[in-house]
Amino acid sequence: MTDTAHVSTADVARSLFIERFGAEPVGTWSAPGRVNLIGEHTDYNDGFVLPFAIQHRTHVALAPREDGRIRVASTFDDAAVELALDELDGLFPGRRDEVPEWARYPLGVAWALLAASGANPADATGVDLAFASSVPIGAGLSSSAAIEGATAVALAETWGLSLDRVALAQAGRRAENEAVGAPTGIMDQMAALLGRADAAIFLDCRSLETQVVDLGFAQAGLEVVVIDTGVKHSHATGGYGERRAACERGAAALGVPALRDVTVDDLERLAGLVDDVTFRRVRHVVTENERVIETVRTLSEQGPTAIGELLVASHASMRDDFEISVPELDTAVEAALSAGAVGARMTGGGFGGAAIALVARDRVEQVRDAAIAAFSASGFTAPTVFTVVPSAGAGRD
Ligand code: GLA
Repeated sequence: MTDTAHVSTADVARSLFIERFGAEPVGTWSAPGRVNLIGEHTDYNDGFVLPFAIQHRTHVALAPREDGRIRVASTFDDAAVELALDELDGLFPGRRDEVPEWARYPLGVAWALLAASGANPADATGVDLAFASSVPIGAGLSSSAAIEGATAVALAETWGLSLDRVALAQAGRRAENEAVGAPTGIMDQMAALLGRADAAIFLDCRSLETQVVDLGFAQAGLEVVVIDTGVKHSHATGGYGERRAACERGAAALGVPALRDVTVDDLERLAGLVDDVTFRRVRHVVTENERVIETVRTLSEQGPTAIGELLVASHASMRDDFEISVPELDTAVEAALSAGAVGARMTGGGFGGAAIALVARDRVEQVRDAAIAAFSASGFTAPTVFTVVPSAGAGRD
């Protein structure tokens, strides 16, 4: 996607604002979706992740209002939602069902930001917000963190809050955990807030320290191809929470605060302490943390064409040990590899969503054709295939 498309999503947000609210916004802000290069289900285990922000963004047009109320509208829903800022405290988390699901993201961020800044909601300036997005929803590219990030930067500036980017990411995560009810980690919000062009963010999810890691994909003639399976997932239900619980059981059995504190050498001891399923869940997290560190090292020492095996090993671990892949994701990965991809893996929380493949520029068409042919041969609905580029994080447009 080019700059023109990027500007046009901002224009959609601006037009929606004018149409729904009958006035001009003071500006637009935006935040990106993300692809996780490697490090899956490690974030809530205090581990390591290596995501990058993508060029698809959610834009929000905003104007302040005089009456201490917040109103949100979006292209995802016909109805706007409006309430007083000092009603947010009563709404989340217990009465979240009273607002449509999409509105829990921006309203949850407003709630979490007010709490984090210590501001009295009754004194905060009211706001109107209108959202439009180019991040595919339910594709595992973190459309939710894009809404949260855009809301966070827009409100922090409007309210004059002195919160840094990590604090804004934490507010986004709190919104997701408590206002939406999805027990996710902090990776996606950190990627949306801290992303940089041409780089990934190496994040230590325990200290929240970050390091910008140059990817060098363009210089190496590589593209990141996304194969969106179209299989929708939700992290507010089922499998995601079960995986999290298994990780907590594993850590408790070993007497450590989080799986971050477990090494491959501890696995032998763990085998005698937990059931086979829990053991395999833990093994995924422990080996995945090692793969993230190894990927960062390989990128700097050998360059991006050398990380393919790590991506493939990560996918196998998610498929066999963590069991969060689905046949469509496995098919996408296998098709990409057979068409000559350097590496491929599912990305994001799993149970659907997208796979990524690292592909030499002159093979992108072959990978696309191979994925489409493999889906057709398996009787799956055709995937959506596109390329992404590591892009900047949230900010005012
Ligand atoms: C989702 C969550 C993240 C992370 C990934 C899996 O994207 O939002 O916090 O746990 O799944 O790595």
